[in-house]
Amino acid sequence: MHILVTGGAGYIGSHAALRLLRDGHRVVIVDNLYRGHAGAVNAIARAAGRNASNLNFHRLDLLDTQALEHMMRAHAVHAVMHFAALTYVGESVNRPLDYWRANTAGALSLLTAADAAGVTRLIFSSTAATYGEPGPQDVPIREDLVQRPINPYGASKLAFERILTEHTHACKASGKDFACAFLRYFNVCGSDRSGALGEHHDPETHLIPIVLHCLLGRRPQSSNTLSIFGHDYPTPDGTAVRDYVNVEDLVDAHVHTLAALKAGDVRSYNIGTGTGLSVRQIVDAAERVTGLKLKTADAPRRAGDPATLYADPGKIAREIGWKAATREVEPMIEHAWAWMKANPRGYAN
Ligand code: UFG
Repeated sequence: MHILVTGGAGYIGSHAALRLLRDGHRVVIVDNLYRGHAGAVNAIARAAGRNASNLNFHRLDLLDTQALEHMMRAHAVHAVMHFAALTYVGESVNRPLDYWRANTAGALSLLTAADAAGVTRLIFSSTAATYGEPGPQDVPIREDLVQRPINPYGASKLAFERILTEHTHACKASGKDFACAFLRYFNVCGSDRSGALGEHHDPETHLIPIVLHCLLGRRPQSSNTLSIFGHDYPTPDGTAVRDYVNVEDLVDAHVHTLAALKAGDVRSYNIGTGTGLSVRQIVDAAERVTGLKLKTADAPRRAGDPATLYADPGKIAREIGWKAATREVEPMIEHAWAWMKANPRGYAN
């Protein structure tokens, strides 16, 4: 199959591109390299070995509908995995227009091009942030929980869920072969176990990479001390609880979902492990994996952070048989740690 991977120079998209190449698909990556890395595309090609000849890369912006359509026709793209997005909750509050432009207008442009070029399947990276701030009775979160995002990031993603739903219904009514799925990610972490790819964000805001950067001595501005945002949450140890899912398992969910889609489907699945871990449990696990001691400091809660978020991943298990293979967080931290030590500047070489 020929699959377009948007955001393929980013963290999750690069892992997806490599998996698809290893599975024998042809892959075309589209990325504007605003937050993605040309080095990630090179790393995918190196790791794909002889399948690297099945990889194409186009530096394009999603808002360039005509160029996208032209490229999709030229490559006879069958399916799109759409990862390209802006993804920082805090930044979205300060720069909402950028988030609506990239995540909603960009995705609409992509869908318009895909429709014109005859693409039949689209898998969309949605987010647990579309659920907003669930109450304690709503956790573990199921897909039918009412979606009330509390920030422009979640809202910009939810808007595209709606656009895709309406488009798919219209295709079904007119007999056009099209199907889509929204995968609502919880906290994605870890990296490719072969060591080829990793997580490189600038700025970095995610817990596990920050913990590892502190342990590597790479956050001198904070004295390599982790600020724990909130220690008085109504959780067993007072710190916030999240569902940490391995990036390779997440990619596997995309592969399974794509294979399961039938014309007219609009599927939504939570992608998590179903287990919640607190910030302190992550710190303990990182200390066990690395054998190092982390300096921590209690800090105020971060705006917009709910106390507890973890998935009920039962729907995707029942409907298509996918479950996260990695149940413990230690192997995810181990792979991330190995890549960071081997690539101290990430992809910036
Ligand atoms: N945290 C700290 N210190 C840090 C960084 C994070 O204590 O230096 C805490 C956060 O406050 C939070 C937990 O660690 O309680 C996890 O934080 P992350 O930033 O790693 O992840 P989030 O849960 O905030 O966000 C993730 C995704 C978002 C998505 C959201 C959905 O990164 O894209 O889940 O709930 F929107």
